[in-house]
Amino acid sequence: MLPNDETLFDKVVNLSKRRGFVFQSAEIYGGFRSTYDYGPLGVLLLRNVKEQWWRSMVQLRHDVVGLDASILSPPAVWQASGHLANFSDPMVDCRECGARHRQDKLDDPNACPSCGKSGSLTEAREFNLMFKTHAGPMVESAAEVYLRPETAQGMFINFANVLNTSRKKPPFGIAQIGKSFRNEITPGNFVFRTREFEQMEMEFFVPPEDSDEWYRYWCGARMDWYLDLGMPEDRLRLREHDADELSHYSTGTSDVEFAFPWGWDELEGIANRTDFDLKRHAESSGTKLEYHDPASGERYVPHVIEPAAGATRTAMAFLMAAYDEEEVNDDVRTVLRLDHRLAPYKVAVLPLSKKPELIEPSNEVLGLLQPHWMCDYDQTQAIGRRYRRQDEIGTPYCVTIDFDTLEDRAVTVRDRDSMTQERVPIDGLVDHMAGRLPA
Ligand code: GAP
Repeated sequence: MLPNDETLFDKVVNLSKRRGFVFQSAEIYGGFRSTYDYGPLGVLLLRNVKEQWWRSMVQLRHDVVGLDASILSPPAVWQASGHLANFSDPMVDCRECGARHRQDKLDDPNACPSCGKSGSLTEAREFNLMFKTHAGPMVESAAEVYLRPETAQGMFINFANVLNTSRKKPPFGIAQIGKSFRNEITPGNFVFRTREFEQMEMEFFVPPEDSDEWYRYWCGARMDWYLDLGMPEDRLRLREHDADELSHYSTGTSDVEFAFPWGWDELEGIANRTDFDLKRHAESSGTKLEYHDPASGERYVPHVIEPAAGATRTAMAFLMAAYDEEEVNDDVRTVLRLDHRLAPYKVAVLPLSKKPELIEPSNEVLGLLQPHWMCDYDQTQAIGRRYRRQDEIGTPYCVTIDFDTLEDRAVTVRDRDSMTQERVPIDGLVDHMAGRLPA
């Protein structure tokens, strides 16, 4: 583990590009700042992060259901949510070099961090972070629509639909994973802050009197999720917001923070949003957004506890937490010690040589493993270098097919972390791996 290594950030960014986790978007056109493309390995890592979130938040619970709401929505939604009026950051311009900055992120509010000039910054003005576009062929104000800056509002405006169709009653939640868009003034730190990103959010609707208890519950449950997936305890913390940090509608908010190379920073916010959102949408739309208990006859607007995480940001944190270097035989071995559930490939199938007699059993082994786990196949280079390539991308197991395989129908299984090897019969290989890898 290298938490204090100042070069960790560069090492992870370099590995991400070199091995195909993350590419700069539109790179062949000079790159499009603040958006990124997820390559063959990144797409698998990101899918695994989202899959683990969905498994814990939806699949393993009886009180949370899923949703996939639209990305485009009309101004009325954002008028009601308060985003049109308030979703802004204070922006300053440098009169000297023209750079733009978020005032609240400046170390020295009087000096431009780009050119260093003191006294060159303009007065701050509020800059709305919403992306606006037009639906249909006419570019006119009646056709204005917005790209969502959070997935949350899709769940509030579908509250009645879900309540009426799912037979759930408070306490229950609606979960969603999807893209969100913010016209960030200062995107940066690789995929930490981008203009297009993915969120994993859940709105948990509860009887008002139980909201504090559920808020505490979700703070604990969300911390456990990261720890269970291998985040080191000393690089994760839950930070409760001070009263002056709280949004006007929130009675409590805590951030799950990770020790990034630049310091503690947010992975997820867990907020008690009270009945603010449902009330605002009910008032604006004229639709009742409340729960009616048929047994007691009671009607109430549920309060909402919201764990809101960033999928892309979290995937990057898992990469940083997993990155390790160790000395092996006077050489430095780079290894991503990712939890098996997050590793892009679970197994790499490696014929010792390209000789045709090894390719046939290698294809047989690959065919046995592929229905169960995501596998890589590599027949180039010396076997030692191929092991190192797999270590560097976090593959938990390598399966090598050698000339003895032709005699004994057995293969060598090598463990990423311990580098130990064992001989396993091909006919028992799937069972052997099933005892070590997630289903
Ligand atoms: N519905 C509440 C909400 O959206 P947020 O704190 O603004 O709350 C939740 O966003 C999470 O989304 C953040 O903790 C972060 O992980 C992720 N996120 C927000 N803005 C982001 C950006 N520009 N780039 C990458 N991830 C971002």
